[in-house]
This record gives sequence, C-alpha cells and structure tokens, in this order.
Amino acid sequence: MLFVLKIGGSILFPAIEENTKILKDFCKIIVDLAKKGHKIAVVAGGGAPARFYIRILENLGLSSFESDIIGINITKIHAQLMAYYTKKIALNQGIHVSDHVCENALEVLRELKNNDICFSGGFYPGQSTVAVASIIAEAINADAILLATNVDGVYDKDPKIHSDAKKFAKITVVDMRKILVEQSAKAGMYKLIDFVAIKIMERSGIPAVIFDGRNPFNLCSIVEHLVNRDMEKLTEIGTLIMS
Ligand code: UTP
Repeated sequence: MLFVLKIGGSILFPAIEENTKILKDFCKIIVDLAKKGHKIAVVAGGGAPARFYIRILENLGLSSFESDIIGINITKIHAQLMAYYTKKIALNQGIHVSDHVCENALEVLRELKNNDICFSGGFYPGQSTVAVASIIAEAINADAILLATNVDGVYDKDPKIHSDAKKFAKITVVDMRKILVEQSAKAGMYKLIDFVAIKIMERSGIPAVIFDGRNPFNLCSIVEHLVNRDMEKLTEIGTLIMS
C-alpha cells in the first residue's frame, strides 16, 4: 500500500532534550514496512523546538509569516534527521530511501518513483504539517493518511482538559470541520487538524487515521488492520476520518 505518515513534532520532540528513542523506533518500523512492500511518504512535525523558536519570534514582535518560516525550517531539520537515520539503517536491506527533504508534493512524486521511503517537513506558511500530509496524499493518490499524534484519536473536546471528552471511532470530514469551527472560536483550541487539511481530505476522499504515536508500534497495527480491511480493530486504536 501507499501511505503518507505524518509524525507529530510532539511525538518526535515533546521537549528540547536529546531523546532519540521514538525517532529511532519510527525509522525502524518504517524500514520494516517498506521491506513488506509498502511505500511511505513521511512528514515530520516541529514539536517543542518549533514552539521554542516561535515563542522567541513572538517576543521579538515578528510576524506570523516569519514564525511559520522558522517553524517550517525546524520541521525540515526533523525530516532530514529521520531521512539520514532511515537511510543508514536501511543499508543493504533491499529498499531505497531518499535523503532529500522534499519541498513540495511534486518533489515527493518524483522521489517516490525511485524510492520506497521519502521525507518532507512543512511546505508553505499558513498551514500545518497535517495539511502537508493531505496534499502529498492527494498528489501521490495514497491509500491512507496516517497521523501519529499524542492522543489516541479524535475527541469531541480536548481530552487533556475535559475528563468527560468522548472519543469518536469514526468521523466524517464534514463533522470534523464542525468541531474545528466550534473549537477555533475558543481560546486554546483543540488543534489536531487544520482547515487546509480538511479541505484537501474532503476533495480527495482519501481516508485518514489519527492514532497515538507515543507508542510507535501502533503504526504496525494500524497498517495491518488497513491491509486486512479490519476497520473495527482499526477504530479501537485510533479514529478513522472519511468523506
Ligand atoms: P506543525 O504544527 O504542523 O508541527 O508545524 P507539529 O509539531 O507536528 O504539530 P503537533 O503539535 O505535533 O501537532 C510546526 C510549525 O511549522 C509551521 C507552522 O508555524 C507550525 O506551527 N508550518 C508547518 C507552516 O507554516 N507550514 C507548513 O506547511 C507546515
């Protein structure tokens, strides 16, 4: 199958410290999936390092555009780190890994012609890396968009704040948009997905799964359930977003 995998920066780098375990585990799992015949376009998020710099830019009174450019650069560093490490561990394993960080979806299309795995960070100001994942998925006609984040699915409100928040097993893109509209009116909104991503998911019809990436091995289960078309098991460990 052909996947786009977005790994949240909050998973890769939840804090500014040298913790490489999650990053290494994800790279190893991605290599194993490629060895099984899957192709994967990976998108890396910005996490704590991006937020650290974005706060500095705010203190300096710089613009949102400038903050986004710095955020994008941090995501690209994370993508490059993953690309180098994945290429290193994939050596002599019969698969091809691109260590070029793609700057747009056309580059992803090109890299996946000759490689099983390629990497991107952010693309343009004004959106998130979930939007990047959706744009890539549409460009390469992916089977699914896999969103590894630090919650185990989509809730009707932020589960980290509200103990009575309810998790959806499945949700339509239209309902996802409604939640986003309600939440974006409030401070500290529950941010899992952005409007650009919603729009692209809606028109492409490519299903997305939001799952808990704090355990990278959840990715193996998600892929297995997708291959077996076992949607019941899939929704036990994540939320399925479909059109
Ligand atoms: P994200 O907010 O998408 O990364 O990008 P993340 O860390 O994975 O998010 P979570 O919290 O784990 O879900 C980091 C920053 O990079 C900029 C934005 O400023 C964003 O806040 N960015 C990213 C863009 O401007 N354009 C892009 O295409 C991607």
